[in-house]
Amino acid sequence: MVSIEQILDPISVKDFFQNYWQKKHLIIRRNKFKNIYSFRHLNSYLNRYPYVRGLQIIDYTDKGDGRWCLDKVMSGKLKLPKLKRSDVFKLWKEEGKTFVIPFAENENKYLNDIVQELEKYFEYGQANVYASPKAMSKSFPPHADSTENFLFHTEGKTKWTMYSDKGKTISDQFTLDAGDLLYIPIGVYHKVETIGPRVLVSVHFKNKPKQTLEKFVIKKSNREQWYDWVPPGFYDKKVIKRNHRLMQSGTWKKPYFNWNK
Ligand SMILES: [Fe+2]
Repeated sequence: MVSIEQILDPISVKDFFQNYWQKKHLIIRRNKFKNIYSFRHLNSYLNRYPYVRGLQIIDYTDKGDGRWCLDKVMSGKLKLPKLKRSDVFKLWKEEGKTFVIPFAENENKYLNDIVQELEKYFEYGQANVYASPKAMSKSFPPHADSTENFLFHTEGKTKWTMYSDKGKTISDQFTLDAGDLLYIPIGVYHKVETIGPRVLVSVHFKNKPKQTLEKFVIKKSNREQWYDWVPPGFYDKKVIKRNHRLMQSGTWKKPYFNWNK
């Protein structure tokens, strides 16, 4: 399991809720969660297409048609073409579209652990993966979200702009790298630009009703449990160790985080 202390490290939980929660954004650099969703995860996910609930393609036609949503297209609610896997791949590879994978908290234990832990402090949440194969030519206008957002950067770099009032005055600008975490309070205006291939996991929640610092409620998540389906004793410790090593993909020489500790 993962604790909120590990998620916020080196910021203490008290410091976070007193000084950042609902007030200002927070950047935690080089945290332990670089490997929670990689391009490798994306690869096996998209090769399941069309059996991928809720897949979305942002800015589908470049003409302002907005998002292509698999579920809405299939149910007929959205009048856009049904795409074959090869069409989806073309949109990714040749047109460089950004894909959104909703409910990614069901994709692996690491993400599930993070969502479950934060649900003690917030309402029932969700993890969405934002993945792009290259820099986006078009950048989205400044906006605010109606949720508390934890943005885990897991591949590549993104450029962020934060605003102090409704997208007019810039309060901060920075580039985030794989392994960085950005917290954006509910209602704070922000803009994100993709400057190369990237994967970003947005873990977001509404606040518990009437949650205040004075009367702070911490309650166990009511999310369905993540089960271990591997029969007991089936894998020996060597195999588990090797799998962990495989999870620590990329160029980082030593594991940044040992999940079993
Ligand atoms: Fe946003």
